[in-house]
Amino acid sequence: MRPIRLGFRGVAVGLILTGGFLAAGALPAPAQTGEVVIYSARHYGQEPAFEAFTKKTGIQIKILNGSTGEMFERLRAEGDRTPADVLLTVDAGNLWNAARAGLLQKVDSPELQANLPAHLRDPEMRWVGLTVRARTIMYNTKKVTPAELSTYEALGDPKWKGRLCLRTSGYIYNQSLIATLTRRHGEAHAEAIVRGWSQNQPTIINSDTKILEAIAAGQCDVGLTNHYYLARLVAKDPAFPVAPFWANQQTTGTHVNVSGAGVTAHAKNRANALKLLEFLSSPEAQQMFADVGFEYPANPQAAVNPIVARWGRFKQDDINIAAAGEFQAAATRLADRAGYK
Ligand SMILES: [Fe+2]
Repeated sequence: MRPIRLGFRGVAVGLILTGGFLAAGALPAPAQTGEVVIYSARHYGQEPAFEAFTKKTGIQIKILNGSTGEMFERLRAEGDRTPADVLLTVDAGNLWNAARAGLLQKVDSPELQANLPAHLRDPEMRWVGLTVRARTIMYNTKKVTPAELSTYEALGDPKWKGRLCLRTSGYIYNQSLIATLTRRHGEAHAEAIVRGWSQNQPTIINSDTKILEAIAAGQCDVGLTNHYYLARLVAKDPAFPVAPFWANQQTTGTHVNVSGAGVTAHAKNRANALKLLEFLSSPEAQQMFADVGFEYPANPQAAVNPIVARWGRFKQDDINIAAAGEFQAAATRLADRAGYK
């Protein structure tokens, strides 16, 4: 894989191309009959699942990799000329934005509805979550005991003053967390929660991995990150002194988000695109798809990676994750009011 720059309608788009899909500087060739073209902003080693699909169905797949913003702009600029059949990306907030911009189409699939829990897919079925990531409390196991922890709200307790590490409020993972808190509790209550964090003068670090390293190093004692970043660190160093605490188990459940996909509005191979999504939601593919990135399969029938399984089962907040998009603007405003940068 090598990064190249493509100029498109005056927008310079940085893209990583896989499998010799495109010649440098060229626009995508029209899809061959039946082939599914994926615009992907999820880069967690999903190739084994795609290969299994091709093996099973004979349907070829082509992937164009880039950031969410790049894929979004590209789909928008290409309009009905797009070669893309599927948009694959991380975070329900991004999927919701793509649906709202008219880039995705509704699908009718009893199989997707049976395989994937209702709270992890668009109520209008324009996108579905395929893997689950929990954004929860992380703590230094040498300095904090689980008994001191309980909820997202309780991180606003003055006892955590100067001991908390967070990413910026504007980062999509935190926007989605705050958005679902807003959907759960209303804007005023969500603002009070965020103000509590803000008053504890969190150290702002713009990387989940760096937050975990800061917690391990004792720079802070607690933080909020996605679970799979910890799994990656623990896979390398089993003695890494940070553990997840499943937030809000007595109340609303731990905030979860997804990586997921939808069929594009102008898909040329709609039927095969849907077949691919259905395959990816099956237990067999789910395990492959989630495992490499240490995510949870969205399909509860699929097995969980052993490193992640060690952390036990937890109650997910079962609010529909479309809330991550619906309440994104409100989340941004209230974080701003609460002084959380
Ligand atoms: Fe991530």
